[in-house]
Amino acid sequence: MAGTARQFQAENVDVCLVNNQGELAAVNNWCPHRQGPLAEGWIEEGRIVCPWHAWGFDLRTGECLEENSRVAVYALKQQGDEVLIELPAE
Ligand code: FES
Repeated sequence: MAGTARQFQAENVDVCLVNNQGELAAVNNWCPHRQGPLAEGWIEEGRIVCPWHAWGFDLRTGECLEENSRVAVYALKQQGDEVLIELPAE
């Protein structure tokens, strides 16, 4: 399996946390196309792929190769068993 994705809530933001072969990444859970749930998608070649229409978003940059679009990527760090996610200031 290339990786796993799960949805979490961090404050009021729905985050899709991806484990891509041991490398963690955090992106906004809602696809910018039509709000598909990215955590229900799959990981392929360093991208999270939306389950609804298969747009893929780079896990480092958030960029979509198929369309002129991007999803928010959040910085994260691990502290022991916890994953801390840096959300944008409101
Ligand atoms: S809703 Fe994600 S590709 Fe359409």
